[in-house]
Amino acid sequence: MPAFSDPSQQNQSDQTPLRIGVMASGNGSNFEALAQAIDAGTLAAEIRLLVVNNPGCGAQQRAQRLGIPCTVLDHRVLRERERLDQALVDCFRSAAVEVIVMAGWMRIVTPVLINGFADRLVNIHPSLLPSFKGLDGIGQALAAGVKITGCSVHLVTAELDGGPILAQAAVPVEEKDTHATLSERVHQAEHRLLPEAINAMIPVWRQG
Ligand code: GAR
Repeated sequence: MPAFSDPSQQNQSDQTPLRIGVMASGNGSNFEALAQAIDAGTLAAEIRLLVVNNPGCGAQQRAQRLGIPCTVLDHRVLRERERLDQALVDCFRSAAVEVIVMAGWMRIVTPVLINGFADRLVNIHPSLLPSFKGLDGIGQALAAGVKITGCSVHLVTAELDGGPILAQAAVPVEEKDTHATLSERVHQAEHRLLPEAINAMIPVWRQG
């Protein structure tokens, strides 16, 4: 059995920082918000590894600047979803990661990853779930004409954007909002919510 096949068996009543892995596809502002919360002492964790699927993306550049290890797993090379997800599991296990955070990961994940880190795979989504699942939660909210939207942090299950919700933050939609202005305010809310939600879950994960 691999050394880290069952992270719940490790670190029971452990006070050491939670070892997290992060997955990102794009700009990486949520990834950096996690790093900042760790530096500020509001998130009792350490980022062991960032994995990106787009070489040269903003998240990778941020990792370089922050001195955080980054691995590229290009979905154009690992073309089958299960192969990409197995590579993710292998990378994060090698890095002794306890919990994975999908911080702007724009690929559908399979049971290979979901079951490999069961109840330890977290996603952030730019809407108040269960509204506006899938792509472009901001655009969907604007198109629907809702007056309040927001962001959700949830555990990942086989149902797309459908796993148990850990935390949510509301963001009012203003009359003059464009996609860019609303996206900026939702991102601000995400940057607060994601570290808070992860930190609040640490005792649960550590109890295993
Ligand atoms: C975030 O708004 C996140 O909620 C969203 O991608 C953005 C990434 O921003 N994720 C999804 O839509 C997942 N379905 P970032 O790269 O600046 O962190």
